[in-house]
Amino acid sequence: MTQISRLTVIGSGTMGHGIGQLAAMKGIEVSIFDVDDAALGRASQSVATSLARFVKKETISEQESADILARMNFRSNLDEALEGAEAVIEAVPEVLELKQRVFTDIDARTSPDVLLGTNTSQLSITAIASATKSPERVVGMHFFNPPVIMRLVEIIRGTLTTDDILARTVALSDQLGKESIVCQRDTPGFITTRAIMALRLECIRIFEEGIASMEDLDKAMRLAFNHPMGQFELNDYNGLDIALQGSRNLREAYGERFAPPPSLVSRVAAGRLGRKTGAGWYEYPTDNK
Ligand SMILES: NC(=O)c1ccc[n+]([C@@H]2O[C@H](COP(=O)([O-])OP(=O)(O)OC[C@H]3O[C@@H](n4cnc5c(N)ncnc54)[C@H](O)[C@@H]3O)[C@@H](O)[C@H]2O)c1
Repeated sequence: MTQISRLTVIGSGTMGHGIGQLAAMKGIEVSIFDVDDAALGRASQSVATSLARFVKKETISEQESADILARMNFRSNLDEALEGAEAVIEAVPEVLELKQRVFTDIDARTSPDVLLGTNTSQLSITAIASATKSPERVVGMHFFNPPVIMRLVEIIRGTLTTDDILARTVALSDQLGKESIVCQRDTPGFITTRAIMALRLECIRIFEEGIASMEDLDKAMRLAFNHPMGQFELNDYNGLDIALQGSRNLREAYGERFAPPPSLVSRVAAGRLGRKTGAGWYEYPTDNK
């Protein structure tokens, strides 16, 4: 399978700039497009900070860091950003209508042999692809945060995704130095979100039934299963509101086994969303509180 030499990333936020940096670190010329100039500024700053950390740890040299930065362009013009792209990866917010608009735009501006990937965590690939005239080239390419570090890419086959596009997506993941798994059917939660939500919700229920404390459940995940964090600690990082939304989406698809537990619903209602609000499952008091 031929390797790609030019990638365009749409959206320069948490995931987009990380995917772009990863690709540039693997020798690919990268354009990152965003509608928000301030976001582009933050993205280029975050990449520079991340590369400086790699230099400090002697993972890469000063020269390599400069070469990586030189391979990256931050663009606010979509036509310029898409010039010469062999693959495009979209990482705009998780809103179906927004992603559909973005895909209509990139579909119209790229030749039909260009691979179009979406980094959605749980939206339907098929629904996103339906906004294009060439849905067969749209594929799920779900990276994990931070993309430069996390080893997996979850590849999702849309209803119309061709075998060729799927094979090219696996090859692109290989080129980026990642392990990949393939979700063969475009189903809610794919593989990883569905599996982790089942575990998270069951941990919450064990806590609600008074069988174990949150601390002991987190300790169990860390020490019995070698998870780097327990489910309560991890959920405080990625947001209780995100978990509640995920739970509701999965309940709609799979039924009551994914119903949101009352203690999750009430915490979100009280604004306890995790570290970002200073409290979630645990408290995170700041110095002046
Ligand atoms: N954050 C995570 O941990 C994580 C992990 C895996 C997957 N994802 C998925 O990745 C996607 C992006 O998430 P994120 O956390 O990077 O979001 P983010 O909010 O950090 O970044 C999104 C960026 O997209 C830009 N944007 C908005 N509309 C745009 C448009 N029309 N064209 C171009 N850019 C536009 C915004 O200005 C912003 O910079 C979502 O689908 C999310 O579900 C996120």
